[in-house]
Amino acid sequence: MKKIGVIGPGAIGRLFAFFLASAGHDVLLVCRREAQAKAFSEQGLTYVDLEGRAHHLAVEATTGGSERLAEAHGVIVTVKSYDTAAAARQIGALNRKVPVLSLQNGLGNAQTLARDVAQEQIAVALTTHGAIAEGEAKVWHKGRGQTVIGAIEAGSEVADWWADVLASCAPVITPSAEIQREIWRKAMVNIGINPFTALLGVKNGQLLREPDVLPLMRAAVEEAEAVAKLAGVELSDSMERVLDVCRHTAENTSSMLQDVRLGRRTEIDAMCGVIVQIAEAAGLSVPHNLFLKNFIKKCETNRFELTSLELKRL
Ligand code: PAF
Repeated sequence: MKKIGVIGPGAIGRLFAFFLASAGHDVLLVCRREAQAKAFSEQGLTYVDLEGRAHHLAVEATTGGSERLAEAHGVIVTVKSYDTAAAARQIGALNRKVPVLSLQNGLGNAQTLARDVAQEQIAVALTTHGAIAEGEAKVWHKGRGQTVIGAIEAGSEVADWWADVLASCAPVITPSAEIQREIWRKAMVNIGINPFTALLGVKNGQLLREPDVLPLMRAAVEEAEAVAKLAGVELSDSMERVLDVCRHTAENTSSMLQDVRLGRRTEIDAMCGVIVQIAEAAGLSVPHNLFLKNFIKKCETNRFELTSLELKRL
């Protein structure tokens, strides 16, 4: 059994922490706020399964960062993409070759981790499990998904290490030798779903019933595919994948909709923001991604929802 640190126990962090702890691994949750660490330490972690049954497990939690992580055999990073740099510094301060797993949304997380952590230590996992965090220490499992794992450096064994640890407890773990491609594929899904669910205030499945919005989703995804090509990743059928994920996660409230509803910063910068950045540097115009980036930013500070017709007219 391993001791695994989880930096950033939001919805996905809590979900995987539960998978690990229920298989007997020793889990240390590294929280940003004292109140959250206290809640985990006092109440344990509550996981509500797909049938609505609640399970409780005792977990260790801290805000202590690097000192408490010192004994971890591996560290999972589930912070929001804009907090990746801080997590990288915490891991870098360990001064030890610990296997690291980025389990996050968005483009650029592995590069940010690699500023403080050796590339050979870093694996990336992308998951389609649906989860919603409630309060400080509870998570609802809302959709059974799949998780692909790969190392960012060719020849590194770090992804096999993580696949072994997770295979014992998390549903459907698939190793991938092409993780950069998987990161871009997931980014297409996030660009096609997240901002639209956040702007309309709807669950993923509802997007399939919005004929005015589907062409806008397609346009944003096609722009992002063109930018992926500029970055050396050829993708096709991304819109079909978006629709597929909408079908399979129909009842999910996307992470971006959860963020705007709670008045939190979203991960739009690591999604449409990166697309705009790469496109601008190459002189390519990506008007849909630019619009989504700017509009979601407005939504973060000034909560509102649009109807599909209003969105179409903008
Ligand atoms: O960010 C999310 O919510 C998820 O990555 C996804 C796949 C869009 C499902 O809700």
